[in-house]
Amino acid sequence: MKDLKGEFPILSKHPGLVYLDSACTSLKPRKVIDAESSYYNELGACAGRSSHRLGREASNAVESARERVAAFVSAKADELVWTRNTTEALNIVAYGLDYTKRKKVVTSGLEHHAVLLPWMDLHERGIARLELVKSDASGHADEDAWADAIDRETALVVTNSGNNTSGVSQCTKNLARIAHDNGALVCIDGAQGVPHRKADFRRENFDFLCFSAHKMLGPTGIGALVMKKERMAGLQPLIRGGGTVKTVSLEKVVPVRDYTRFEAGVQHYSGMIGFAAACDYLKSYGMENVEAHEKALAVEMLRELEAAGATVYGPKDVPRSALYSFNIKGAKAHDVALMLDKEDIAVRSGFFCAQPAMEAMGAKEGAVRASCYIYNTSEDVKRLGDALKKISALY
Ligand code: ALA
Repeated sequence: MKDLKGEFPILSKHPGLVYLDSACTSLKPRKVIDAESSYYNELGACAGRSSHRLGREASNAVESARERVAAFVSAKADELVWTRNTTEALNIVAYGLDYTKRKKVVTSGLEHHAVLLPWMDLHERGIARLELVKSDASGHADEDAWADAIDRETALVVTNSGNNTSGVSQCTKNLARIAHDNGALVCIDGAQGVPHRKADFRRENFDFLCFSAHKMLGPTGIGALVMKKERMAGLQPLIRGGGTVKTVSLEKVVPVRDYTRFEAGVQHYSGMIGFAAACDYLKSYGMENVEAHEKALAVEMLRELEAAGATVYGPKDVPRSALYSFNIKGAKAHDVALMLDKEDIAVRSGFFCAQPAMEAMGAKEGAVRASCYIYNTSEDVKRLGDALKKISALY
Protein backbone atom coordinates (compact mmCIF):
# COMPACT_ATOMS: atom_id res chain seq x y z
CA MET A 1 0.00 0.00 0.00
CA LYS A 2 1.31 3.47 -0.90
CA ASP A 3 2.84 5.36 2.05
CA LEU A 4 0.71 8.50 2.33
CA LYS A 5 2.54 10.18 5.20
CA GLY A 6 4.15 12.80 2.91
CA GLU A 7 0.69 14.04 1.91
CA PHE A 8 -0.23 14.98 5.48
CA PRO A 9 1.45 18.21 6.67
CA ILE A 10 1.20 17.26 10.38
CA LEU A 11 3.14 14.06 9.72
CA SER A 12 5.78 15.98 7.76
CA LYS A 13 6.11 18.48 10.61
CA HIS A 14 6.39 15.65 13.18
CA PRO A 15 8.21 12.90 11.30
CA GLY A 16 8.53 10.60 14.34
CA LEU A 17 4.84 10.83 15.29
CA VAL A 18 2.66 7.72 15.33
CA TYR A 19 -0.86 9.13 15.15
CA LEU A 20 -3.33 6.56 16.46
CA ASP A 21 -6.21 8.86 17.41
CA SER A 22 -8.11 9.05 14.14
CA ALA A 23 -11.37 7.95 15.75
CA CYS A 24 -11.25 11.23 17.67
CA THR A 25 -10.29 13.19 14.58
CA SER A 26 -8.36 12.26 11.47
CA LEU A 27 -5.42 14.18 10.04
CA LYS A 28 -6.00 16.24 6.89
CA PRO A 29 -4.10 15.88 3.62
CA ARG A 30 -2.65 18.96 1.95
CA LYS A 31 -5.29 18.76 -0.81
CA VAL A 32 -8.09 19.20 1.74
CA ILE A 33 -6.35 22.07 3.53
CA ASP A 34 -5.78 23.79 0.17
CA ALA A 35 -9.41 23.28 -0.85
CA GLU A 36 -10.65 24.73 2.42
CA SER A 37 -8.42 27.78 2.19
CA SER A 38 -9.40 28.28 -1.47
CA TYR A 39 -12.76 29.52 -0.19
CA TYR A 40 -11.08 32.32 1.78
CA ASN A 41 -8.50 33.05 -0.91
CA GLU A 42 -10.80 33.02 -3.92
CA LEU A 43 -14.47 33.30 -2.93
CA GLY A 44 -15.07 34.80 0.48
CA ALA A 45 -18.79 35.57 -0.09
CA CYS A 46 -22.08 34.13 1.20
CA ALA A 47 -23.55 31.24 -0.77
CA GLY A 48 -27.25 30.98 -1.67
CA ARG A 49 -27.94 34.64 -1.03
CA SER A 50 -26.02 37.32 -2.90
CA SER A 51 -26.34 37.65 -6.65
CA HIS A 52 -22.94 39.33 -7.24
CA ARG A 53 -20.23 37.34 -8.98
CA LEU A 54 -18.45 36.09 -5.85
CA GLY A 55 -21.80 35.16 -4.31
CA ARG A 56 -22.69 33.12 -7.39
CA GLU A 57 -19.30 31.43 -7.40
CA ALA A 58 -19.61 30.59 -3.69
CA SER A 59 -23.08 29.13 -4.35
CA ASN A 60 -21.72 27.01 -7.20
CA ALA A 61 -18.82 25.77 -5.06
CA VAL A 62 -21.15 24.83 -2.21
CA GLU A 63 -23.62 23.04 -4.49
CA SER A 64 -20.78 21.16 -6.21
CA ALA A 65 -19.57 20.16 -2.72
CA ARG A 66 -23.08 19.01 -1.79
CA GLU A 67 -23.23 16.84 -4.89
CA ARG A 68 -19.81 15.22 -4.27
CA VAL A 69 -20.36 14.55 -0.56
CA ALA A 70 -23.82 13.09 -1.27
CA ALA A 71 -22.43 10.95 -4.11
CA PHE A 72 -19.75 9.63 -1.75
CA VAL A 73 -22.51 7.78 0.13
CA SER A 74 -24.54 7.08 -3.05
CA ALA A 75 -27.12 9.77 -2.36
CA LYS A 76 -28.35 12.72 -4.39
CA ALA A 77 -27.44 16.34 -3.68
CA ASP A 78 -31.01 17.26 -2.71
CA GLU A 79 -30.97 14.56 -0.03
CA LEU A 80 -28.09 16.17 1.88
CA VAL A 81 -28.37 18.73 4.67
CA TRP A 82 -25.17 20.35 5.96
CA THR A 83 -24.75 20.14 9.71
CA ARG A 84 -21.95 21.01 12.12
CA ASN A 85 -21.18 17.35 12.77
CA THR A 86 -22.75 13.93 13.35
CA THR A 87 -24.03 15.04 16.75
CA GLU A 88 -26.04 17.87 15.24
CA ALA A 89 -27.39 15.59 12.50
CA LEU A 90 -28.56 13.05 15.11
CA ASN A 91 -30.16 15.84 17.15
CA ILE A 92 -32.06 17.09 14.10
CA VAL A 93 -33.53 13.61 13.64
CA ALA A 94 -34.22 13.09 17.36
CA TYR A 95 -36.00 16.40 17.92
CA GLY A 96 -37.50 16.74 14.45
CA LEU A 97 -39.45 13.47 14.26
CA ASP A 98 -43.08 13.15 15.17
CA TYR A 99 -43.65 10.48 17.85
CA THR A 100 -47.41 10.87 18.14
CA LYS A 101 -48.32 7.69 16.20
CA ARG A 102 -45.42 5.51 17.37
CA LYS A 103 -43.32 6.35 20.42
CA LYS A 104 -40.84 3.52 20.62
CA VAL A 105 -37.20 4.15 19.65
CA VAL A 106 -34.85 1.16 19.60
CA THR A 107 -31.12 1.59 20.09
CA SER A 108 -28.34 -0.17 22.00
CA GLY A 109 -26.38 0.74 25.12
CA LEU A 110 -23.26 0.53 22.94
CA GLU A 111 -23.85 3.85 21.22
CA HIS A 112 -22.02 7.15 21.43
CA HIS A 113 -23.49 9.76 23.80
CA ALA A 114 -24.58 11.67 20.68
CA VAL A 115 -27.12 8.90 20.09
CA LEU A 116 -28.03 8.15 23.71
CA LEU A 117 -28.43 11.65 25.13
CA PRO A 118 -31.06 13.14 22.78
CA TRP A 119 -33.30 10.08 22.91
CA MET A 120 -32.78 9.63 26.68
CA ASP A 121 -33.95 13.22 27.03
CA LEU A 122 -37.05 12.54 24.87
CA HIS A 123 -37.71 9.40 26.92
CA GLU A 124 -37.42 11.25 30.25
CA ARG A 125 -39.87 13.88 29.01
CA GLY A 126 -42.35 11.21 27.87
CA ILE A 127 -42.12 12.23 24.21
CA ALA A 128 -40.53 9.00 22.99
CA ARG A 129 -40.02 5.60 24.66
CA LEU A 130 -36.47 4.35 24.45
CA GLU A 131 -35.76 0.62 24.41
CA LEU A 132 -32.24 -0.84 24.44
CA VAL A 133 -31.35 -4.08 22.68
CA LYS A 134 -29.52 -6.61 24.78
CA SER A 135 -25.79 -7.02 24.26
CA ASP A 136 -23.65 -10.03 25.20
CA ALA A 137 -20.78 -10.09 27.71
CA SER A 138 -18.27 -8.90 25.11
CA GLY A 139 -20.44 -5.84 24.44
CA HIS A 140 -21.97 -6.98 21.17
CA ALA A 141 -25.61 -6.88 20.09
CA ASP A 142 -26.26 -9.32 17.26
CA GLU A 143 -28.97 -9.18 14.64
CA ASP A 144 -31.30 -11.46 16.63
CA ALA A 145 -31.16 -9.09 19.58
CA TRP A 146 -32.20 -6.21 17.30
CA ALA A 147 -34.96 -8.31 15.72
CA ASP A 148 -36.33 -9.14 19.20
CA ALA A 149 -36.56 -5.47 20.16
CA ILE A 150 -38.00 -4.03 16.92
CA ASP A 151 -41.76 -4.39 16.52
CA ARG A 152 -44.77 -2.65 15.01
CA GLU A 153 -44.76 -0.04 17.78
CA THR A 154 -41.27 1.07 16.79
CA ALA A 155 -41.00 4.53 15.27
CA LEU A 156 -37.26 4.52 14.77
CA VAL A 157 -34.19 2.31 15.00
CA VAL A 158 -30.99 4.26 15.61
CA THR A 159 -27.52 2.78 15.79
CA ASN A 160 -23.96 3.13 14.54
CA SER A 161 -22.39 1.59 11.46
CA GLY A 162 -19.01 1.57 13.22
CA ASN A 163 -18.50 1.55 16.96
CA ASN A 164 -16.09 4.14 18.40
CA THR A 165 -15.20 2.02 21.44
CA SER A 166 -14.80 -1.47 19.96
CA GLY A 167 -14.21 -0.85 16.24
CA VAL A 168 -17.06 -3.24 15.34
CA SER A 169 -18.72 -2.63 11.95
CA GLN A 170 -22.43 -3.46 12.08
CA CYS A 171 -24.38 -4.93 9.20
CA THR A 172 -26.67 -1.91 8.97
CA LYS A 173 -28.33 -3.12 5.78
CA ASN A 174 -29.92 -6.01 7.65
CA LEU A 175 -30.95 -3.77 10.54
CA ALA A 176 -32.62 -1.40 8.06
CA ARG A 177 -34.51 -4.33 6.56
CA ILE A 178 -35.75 -5.46 9.99
CA ALA A 179 -36.81 -1.89 10.81
CA HIS A 180 -38.67 -1.42 7.53
CA ASP A 181 -40.39 -4.82 7.79
CA ASN A 182 -41.92 -3.41 10.97
CA GLY A 183 -42.83 -0.05 9.46
CA ALA A 184 -40.09 1.75 11.43
CA LEU A 185 -37.56 4.29 10.17
CA VAL A 186 -33.83 3.81 10.48
CA CYS A 187 -31.20 6.37 11.39
CA ILE A 188 -27.52 5.49 11.15
CA ASP A 189 -24.76 7.16 13.14
CA GLY A 190 -22.11 6.89 10.45
CA ALA A 191 -19.40 8.90 12.24
CA GLN A 192 -17.13 5.86 12.54
CA GLY A 193 -18.56 3.82 9.69
CA VAL A 194 -18.61 6.14 6.66
CA PRO A 195 -14.85 6.94 6.94
CA HIS A 196 -13.86 3.28 6.97
CA ARG A 197 -15.94 1.36 4.43
CA LYS A 198 -18.18 2.16 1.51
CA ALA A 199 -21.56 3.45 2.71
CA ASP A 200 -24.42 3.15 0.26
CA PHE A 201 -27.37 5.20 1.43
CA ARG A 202 -29.66 3.94 -1.30
CA ARG A 203 -28.74 0.26 -1.40
CA GLU A 204 -28.64 -0.05 2.40
CA ASN A 205 -32.00 1.72 2.41
CA PHE A 206 -31.47 4.11 5.32
CA ASP A 207 -33.92 6.85 6.13
CA PHE A 208 -31.25 9.01 7.77
CA LEU A 209 -27.46 8.80 7.64
CA CYS A 210 -25.33 11.10 9.81
CA PHE A 211 -21.58 11.62 9.45
CA SER A 212 -18.78 14.15 10.07
CA ALA A 213 -16.06 15.44 7.75
CA HIS A 214 -13.31 15.61 10.33
CA LYS A 215 -13.20 11.85 10.89
CA MET A 216 -12.66 11.26 7.17
CA LEU A 217 -9.80 13.64 6.32
CA GLY A 218 -12.04 16.72 6.17
CA PRO A 219 -12.34 19.87 8.28
CA THR A 220 -13.90 20.13 11.73
CA GLY A 221 -17.24 21.88 12.16
CA ILE A 222 -18.94 20.38 9.12
CA GLY A 223 -21.03 17.23 8.80
CA ALA A 224 -23.96 15.87 6.89
CA LEU A 225 -27.44 14.54 7.44
CA VAL A 226 -28.50 12.56 4.39
CA MET A 227 -32.17 11.67 4.32
CA LYS A 228 -34.75 10.31 1.95
CA LYS A 229 -36.55 13.23 0.33
CA GLU A 230 -39.92 12.02 1.55
CA ARG A 231 -38.64 12.37 5.16
CA MET A 232 -37.77 16.04 4.75
CA ALA A 233 -41.27 17.53 4.83
CA GLY A 234 -42.21 15.63 8.00
CA LEU A 235 -39.07 16.55 9.96
CA GLN A 236 -39.05 19.76 11.99
CA PRO A 237 -35.85 21.84 11.79
CA LEU A 238 -33.80 22.18 14.98
CA ILE A 239 -33.11 25.86 14.43
CA ARG A 240 -34.89 28.50 12.40
CA GLY A 241 -33.70 31.65 10.70
CA GLY A 242 -32.37 33.24 7.54
CA GLY A 243 -32.23 31.22 4.35
CA THR A 244 -34.99 28.78 5.28
CA VAL A 245 -38.13 30.55 4.12
CA LYS A 246 -40.00 31.47 0.94
CA THR A 247 -41.83 34.44 2.45
CA VAL A 248 -42.26 35.98 5.89
CA SER A 249 -44.88 38.44 7.08
CA LEU A 250 -45.50 39.17 10.73
CA GLU A 251 -48.60 36.96 10.47
CA LYS A 252 -47.28 34.05 8.44
CA VAL A 253 -44.08 32.22 7.58
CA VAL A 254 -43.92 30.12 4.41
CA PRO A 255 -40.93 27.80 4.77
CA VAL A 256 -39.00 26.25 1.89
CA ARG A 257 -39.61 22.53 1.62
CA ASP A 258 -36.16 21.31 0.59
CA TYR A 259 -32.87 20.79 2.44
CA THR A 260 -32.27 24.53 2.91
CA ARG A 261 -35.03 24.46 5.53
CA PHE A 262 -32.49 22.84 7.87
CA GLU A 263 -29.61 25.21 7.08
CA ALA A 264 -30.50 28.41 8.92
CA GLY A 265 -27.94 31.21 8.95
CA VAL A 266 -24.67 31.75 7.14
CA GLN A 267 -22.89 28.42 6.84
CA HIS A 268 -19.42 26.88 7.06
CA TYR A 269 -18.71 27.22 3.30
CA SER A 270 -14.98 26.56 3.51
CA GLY A 271 -15.76 23.41 5.49
CA MET A 272 -18.17 22.17 2.81
CA ILE A 273 -15.55 22.68 0.11
CA GLY A 274 -12.94 20.91 2.25
CA PHE A 275 -15.41 18.10 3.01
CA ALA A 276 -15.92 17.50 -0.72
CA ALA A 277 -12.15 17.49 -1.27
CA ALA A 278 -11.83 14.85 1.47
CA CYS A 279 -14.47 12.71 -0.26
CA ASP A 280 -12.62 13.13 -3.57
CA TYR A 281 -9.38 12.06 -1.88
CA LEU A 282 -10.94 8.94 -0.33
CA LYS A 283 -12.71 8.12 -3.58
CA SER A 284 -9.48 8.19 -5.53
CA TYR A 285 -7.78 6.08 -2.84
CA GLY A 286 -10.73 3.67 -3.04
CA MET A 287 -12.94 2.77 -0.09
CA GLU A 288 -12.28 -0.92 -0.75
CA ASN A 289 -8.57 -0.12 -0.22
CA VAL A 290 -9.34 1.78 2.99
CA GLU A 291 -11.23 -1.24 4.28
CA ALA A 292 -8.55 -3.75 3.24
CA HIS A 293 -5.75 -1.61 4.70
CA GLU A 294 -7.53 -1.37 8.05
CA LYS A 295 -8.44 -5.03 8.07
CA ALA A 296 -4.74 -5.91 7.80
CA LEU A 297 -3.74 -3.35 10.46
CA ALA A 298 -6.47 -4.62 12.80
CA VAL A 299 -4.99 -8.14 12.70
CA GLU A 300 -1.52 -6.78 13.37
CA MET A 301 -2.72 -4.51 16.16
CA LEU A 302 -4.56 -7.28 17.98
CA ARG A 303 -1.43 -9.42 17.79
CA GLU A 304 0.70 -6.60 19.23
CA LEU A 305 -1.79 -5.84 22.01
CA GLU A 306 -1.99 -9.49 23.03
CA ALA A 307 1.80 -9.84 22.93
CA ALA A 308 2.03 -6.86 25.28
CA GLY A 309 -0.39 -8.56 27.69
CA ALA A 310 -3.09 -5.90 27.24
CA THR A 311 -6.73 -6.52 28.16
CA VAL A 312 -8.57 -5.91 24.89
CA TYR A 313 -12.27 -4.99 25.00
CA GLY A 314 -15.10 -5.90 22.68
CA PRO A 315 -15.74 -8.78 20.30
CA LYS A 316 -12.79 -10.00 18.22
CA ASP A 317 -14.09 -12.17 15.38
CA VAL A 318 -16.37 -9.64 13.73
CA PRO A 319 -16.02 -7.21 10.82
CA ARG A 320 -14.17 -4.18 12.17
CA SER A 321 -11.98 -1.17 11.57
CA ALA A 322 -8.43 -0.93 12.96
CA LEU A 323 -9.52 0.38 16.36
CA TYR A 324 -9.09 -1.27 19.75
CA SER A 325 -9.76 -0.20 23.31
CA PHE A 326 -7.52 -1.82 25.88
CA ASN A 327 -5.90 -1.53 29.30
CA ILE A 328 -2.54 -2.54 30.69
CA LYS A 329 -3.09 -4.50 33.90
CA GLY A 330 -2.44 -2.37 36.98
CA ALA A 331 -2.06 0.87 34.99
CA LYS A 332 -4.48 3.78 34.71
CA ALA A 333 -5.56 4.43 31.13
CA HIS A 334 -4.55 8.11 31.22
CA ASP A 335 -1.09 7.21 32.55
CA VAL A 336 -0.60 4.76 29.70
CA ALA A 337 -1.68 7.42 27.20
CA LEU A 338 0.81 9.90 28.67
CA MET A 339 3.61 7.31 28.62
CA LEU A 340 2.81 6.58 24.97
CA ASP A 341 2.86 10.30 24.27
CA LYS A 342 6.44 10.39 25.60
CA GLU A 343 7.24 7.79 22.93
CA ASP A 344 5.60 10.07 20.31
CA ILE A 345 2.55 7.84 19.99
CA ALA A 346 -0.81 9.65 20.11
CA VAL A 347 -3.78 7.68 21.47
CA ARG A 348 -6.94 8.64 23.36
CA SER A 349 -7.85 7.47 26.89
CA GLY A 350 -11.07 7.64 28.92
CA PHE A 351 -14.62 6.71 27.98
CA PHE A 352 -14.63 8.14 24.43
CA CYS A 353 -18.04 9.81 24.90
CA ALA A 354 -19.59 6.36 25.26
CA GLN A 355 -19.49 5.50 28.96
CA PRO A 356 -22.30 2.91 28.96
CA ALA A 357 -20.61 1.11 26.04
CA MET A 358 -17.29 1.01 27.86
CA GLU A 359 -18.98 -0.29 31.00
CA ALA A 360 -20.85 -2.96 28.98
CA MET A 361 -17.49 -4.17 27.64
CA GLY A 362 -16.07 -4.36 31.17
CA ALA A 363 -13.93 -1.19 31.06
CA LYS A 364 -15.48 0.35 34.15
CA GLU A 365 -12.62 2.83 34.65
CA GLY A 366 -12.24 3.64 30.96
CA ALA A 367 -9.48 2.47 28.65
CA VAL A 368 -6.81 3.43 26.15
CA ARG A 369 -7.86 3.52 22.50
CA ALA A 370 -5.67 3.19 19.44
CA SER A 371 -7.34 3.92 16.11
CA CYS A 372 -5.79 3.84 12.65
CA TYR A 373 -6.51 5.39 9.31
CA ILE A 374 -5.10 5.29 5.81
CA TYR A 375 -1.81 7.01 6.72
CA ASN A 376 -0.92 4.40 9.37
CA THR A 377 1.51 1.62 8.59
CA SER A 378 2.53 -1.74 10.04
CA GLU A 379 5.56 0.08 11.43
CA ASP A 380 3.24 2.38 13.46
CA VAL A 381 1.42 -0.61 14.90
CA LYS A 382 4.73 -2.27 15.77
CA ARG A 383 5.89 0.93 17.53
CA LEU A 384 2.70 0.82 19.61
CA GLY A 385 3.29 -2.83 20.50
CA ASP A 386 6.94 -2.24 21.48
CA ALA A 387 6.05 0.77 23.65
CA LEU A 388 3.23 -1.16 25.37
CA LYS A 389 5.56 -4.06 26.16
CA LYS A 390 7.89 -1.61 27.92
CA ILE A 391 4.97 -0.04 29.82
CA SER A 392 3.58 -3.45 30.75
CA ALA A 393 6.92 -4.44 32.24
CA LEU A 394 6.66 -1.52 34.69
CA TYR A 395 3.48 -2.92 36.30
N1 ALA B 1 -16.46 10.76 19.61
C1 ALA B 1 -15.10 10.96 19.28
C2 ALA B 1 -14.24 9.83 19.77
O1 ALA B 1 -14.67 8.73 19.77
C3 ALA B 1 -14.63 12.28 19.68
O2 ALA B 1 -13.13 10.04 20.19
